[in-house]
Amino acid sequence: MIHYKTPAEVELMRDSARLVSKTLAEVAKVLKPGVTTLELDKLIAEFIRDNDAVPSFLNYRGYPFSSCISVNDVVVHGFPRNEALREGDIISVDIGVIKKGWHGDHAYTFAIGDPGPAVMQLIRVTKEALYKGIEKAVAGGRVGDIANAIQEHTEKKYGYGVVRELVGHGLGKHLHEEPQVPNYGRRGTGAKLKEGLVLAIEPMINLGKREVYTESDGWTVRTNDHHPSVHFEHDVCVKKGKADILSDYSIIEAAELANPHLFTGQAAALPS
Ligand code: MF3
Ligand code: CO
Repeated sequence: MIHYKTPAEVELMRDSARLVSKTLAEVAKVLKPGVTTLELDKLIAEFIRDNDAVPSFLNYRGYPFSSCISVNDVVVHGFPRNEALREGDIISVDIGVIKKGWHGDHAYTFAIGDPGPAVMQLIRVTKEALYKGIEKAVAGGRVGDIANAIQEHTEKKYGYGVVRELVGHGLGKHLHEEPQVPNYGRRGTGAKLKEGLVLAIEPMINLGKREVYTESDGWTVRTNDHHPSVHFEHDVCVKKGKADILSDYSIIEAAELANPHLFTGQAAALPS
């Protein structure tokens, strides 16, 4: 069953989504070589609790941490670890909160130092594909329109691997609601998009082949070929004409640009 949100509920969900964005901005401020992903998980859990919310991933189907932190060839659901990040690593940080009963759930991929032009292009293109999918999240369309836009921009245009085993989803009082939102598919197919439908759209795109496997911990998803994978996720509400993006990358991007340890592909401003 699909749950459509009232305008008042959408505002509560915007609050939850923005708390995730703020938490990701806090992460962007402290990322540098030497930091461990377990330290990041602690910071994430504290920041969320300080803001009158709870981390939704903790204990979800037995998941043992407050965030998913996926480094290099880990696609998603990476466990925070007591191991230092290194120059050239890319990390996807995926965070979920429950605030006033409503879920926020989104993710961002950062580059610690320079991972090289091929990986920087993968990061750029995956983010672009997310926005191309969001452009299709309008009333009257279909889930397949979103899926197809993401697949066209990544698999067709760049030959990247589009992960099939994991998909985006509806979001609301539950972390995972109907419908599923794949990152591949055909235009004009799938559930109809109506105003008030809130979706977590989350391309997971591999530099190499699309195949992945889950480690024996039951969670960590890795690329079969061990080439890197990138993950971006936004929370969006379907509207007439133009989707309403509830999460806010601008505060994350500002923190990312201000952190000299993070590579954004943009030249740093020259000191004046
Ligand atoms: N963004 C992921 C998802 O939507 C996060 C789930 S991780 C879990 O599925 F730990 F909560 F399962
Ligand atoms: Co999600």
